[in-house]
Amino acid sequence: MTSLPKTFRVKSFGCQMNVYDGERMGELLDAEGLRAAADHEEADLVVLNTCHIREKAADKAYSDIGRLKREDGSRPMIALAGCVAQAEGAEAKARSPMIDLVVGPQAYHRLPRMIAEAAAGARPVDTDMPAISKFGALPARRRVGPSAFLTVQEGCDKFCTYCVVPYTRGAEVSRPFADIESEARGLVESGAREITLLGQNVNAWTGACGGLDGLIRALANIDGLERIRYTTSHPADMTDALIAAHGEVDKLMPYLHLPVQSGSDRILKAMNRSHSVESYLRTIAKARAARPDIAISGDFIVGFPGETEEDFTSTLSIVDTVGYASAYSFKFSARPGTPAANMEGAVPAHIMDERLQQLQERLASHSLAFNRRCIGRDTSILIDRKGRQPGQMIGKSPWLQSVFVDTEARIGDMLDVTLTGAFPNSLSGALITAAAA
Ligand code: 5AD
Ligand code: SF4
Repeated sequence: MTSLPKTFRVKSFGCQMNVYDGERMGELLDAEGLRAAADHEEADLVVLNTCHIREKAADKAYSDIGRLKREDGSRPMIALAGCVAQAEGAEAKARSPMIDLVVGPQAYHRLPRMIAEAAAGARPVDTDMPAISKFGALPARRRVGPSAFLTVQEGCDKFCTYCVVPYTRGAEVSRPFADIESEARGLVESGAREITLLGQNVNAWTGACGGLDGLIRALANIDGLERIRYTTSHPADMTDALIAAHGEVDKLMPYLHLPVQSGSDRILKAMNRSHSVESYLRTIAKARAARPDIAISGDFIVGFPGETEEDFTSTLSIVDTVGYASAYSFKFSARPGTPAANMEGAVPAHIMDERLQQLQERLASHSLAFNRRCIGRDTSILIDRKGRQPGQMIGKSPWLQSVFVDTEARIGDMLDVTLTGAFPNSLSGALITAAAA
């Protein structure tokens, strides 16, 4: 590698925090004078912003690297970023000779210098987790869409026995309130009407205005900011004050992503989840008391070591009890270095497959039921993309459903609609016109 790249592309995988990091890396490269490559164009630099949460996601990083070789044998400069970079560090370079630099999620503000080093022939690795936040070293937010992410907290101290996050993202750290507020104002000035506060354990945020509830109440004072969301929460950090905010802050959307992982206390204990089925259900009941229409979403893992048919039945049963509006479900993946990777009682692959399928069918029936219950409601949607049919646009409801509607409105518009039809992953809506209202 000899020349400095002029164009770049950032490819992000995994969670929303990676999407946010990917955007910020793009802004940083932009500020350095590089240009984002157009869709059809080959970039001089490709940043692979990877996910390490499950084996499949981590392997994807390496198969993607292989595909970056061009027909004439040349290739772009390749930066391995994200959680695979953090977890594997210098080992990644040995695994793939095509990697030019390795940068962890806490070090990407140093990308410009690393790119220069790589162009000079070095293969720099930076997976430091410096005490001084990278955020202070990043340029201000540039133009954003109507719905923006804002990382307020990073890392995790919970050490669920299956999870790599405490190792790849480090200990829980909250960004200071003043930084968050100024970033939020910048986002709103750049066109955002909705902000989703992000953190691996976002409800563990603490700062000048107390907990996450205080942060939400403070941000709700920003004129022009119309919707606030947050994700992902841990059941153990779901305070009464945060639940109360759902009933009191109009801008806080009626949606709560609260992963449960399993409906069996025995498995929750083996997972080190620090909540029980009962305490989780109590939290859900309180959230519904505060905001009766709240949509509950969750994460599930099937086939954790030692999971019996009875344990799995308990998981199906909590799904029925909660009636999730949406959910993510995964097969257990043994991650090197985590306690669960060495636990006895591995569940055979075909049983994991069967359980996942059964669980997903059950979850899908609840999402559809939730969507159906919304038919007839008048609500607002924030338009975020074009629909498949000509003249159709798609927006998000307060409950995070995609709603398609025939309209001439544009991305970023907030529309009043009546929800008219329900499908497994979306709803149809009809504009409420002044004449009909
Ligand atoms: N195997 C399967 N799923 C996992 N998750 C985290 N670690 C693993 C693993 N080792 C899931 C959890 C978590 C979500 C982000 O990913 O459900 O909530
Ligand atoms: Fe992983 Fe558990 Fe922390 Fe979530 S709470 S990031 S699952 S260790």
